Amino acid sequence: MQKFALDTKDVAEGKTSVVEVSGIEIGIALHQGKYYAYRNICPHQGGPVCEGMQMPRVTGEFTDSGAFERHNFDTSEMHLVCPWHGWEFDIATGEAVGDRSIRLESYAVSERDGKLYVDI
Ligand code: FES
Repeated sequence: MQKFALDTKDVAEGKTSVVEVSGIEIGIALHQGKYYAYRNICPHQGGPVCEGMQMPRVTGEFTDSGAFERHNFDTSEMHLVCPWHGWEFDIATGEAVGDRSIRLESYAVSERDGKLYVDI
């Protein structure tokens, strides 16, 4: 069943908005023009994952001999970082970056007339 969650003006790129819908805490994120919604419970030990910061995927650059040169930030893949122990989740899929078989509980999001609804 679709339930109203937030106005679109209350969700910004780079920040997860946490809201309660039907007694369930849900974090809603906007990434590259698309909305994502996840339950605010980390699959590791139950931390408030949606209250964590967002940061881009970090990659390394290496010389031909394999020596580390520098880190790069890939903003095409944003991560939600759980504030309890730092597990990172891909915002577009909900998958844990360290083990993609582990995922956040997700909800479908629809937008109508400046309002966001989640399927609960
Ligand atoms: S509870 Fe989220 S990383 Fe441990």
